[in-house]
Amino acid sequence: MKKILAFSGSNHSQSIHQNLINITASKVVKNEVTIIDLNDFPLPIYSIDIENKGIPEQVKKLRQTMIEHDALIIASPEHNGSMPAFLKNIIDWLSRATEPGQPFFGVSTKPVLLLSASPGESGGATNLKAMAELMPWWGGDVKGTYSVGSYHEKITDGKLDLKTDKELTAIVLSFENSL
Ligand SMILES: Cc1cc2nc3c(=O)[nH]c(=O)nc-3n(C[C@H](O)[C@H](O)[C@H](O)COP(=O)(O)O)c2cc1C
Repeated sequence: MKKILAFSGSNHSQSIHQNLINITASKVVKNEVTIIDLNDFPLPIYSIDIENKGIPEQVKKLRQTMIEHDALIIASPEHNGSMPAFLKNIIDWLSRATEPGQPFFGVSTKPVLLLSASPGESGGATNLKAMAELMPWWGGDVKGTYSVGSYHEKITDGKLDLKTDKELTAIVLSFENSL
């Protein structure tokens, strides 16, 4: 049984990506899944000046949490075609807590399932594609991606519509089988 770490790349208190992470985590059946909230690792915007005073403890804590897991599920919003500054900042800090050339998320490359959602039709797919392309650089091995467009029309009382739910279940199963 592998240990999966799941988190959203949003700092919105009512995040739809947190909601998507919760639903996705509930579909993990063969492995152990832990959900974390990146807001519990508050960090300043990356600056060389701050780094020169020492890598913040929260970065080391987050990296250690990642080291203790075998795989990641990440749900990221899209802001103007890219990942939110909140998530990029965390990636940048993680990269500075890592030896050059080493994976940002642990001591070895980690399998990653990438998810996104948006109120609009595209479901944040532009950013998801970009993140998937960058993942090998960051130390992630993308095993699957899934975007949910028109999210608010597909969710009722916290539950996805049947079609979306089935598709997500299949993606999670395929991810679990890849571990
Ligand atoms: C600054 C900003 C830029 C955005 N740009 C995009 C975008 O390029 N594509 C898109 O699909 N949604 C965009 N959105 C809408 C986000 O998809 C939406 O806010 C997000 O999915 C909400 O997720 P969250 O509740 O998990 O933060 C943008 C929202 C903000 C605040």
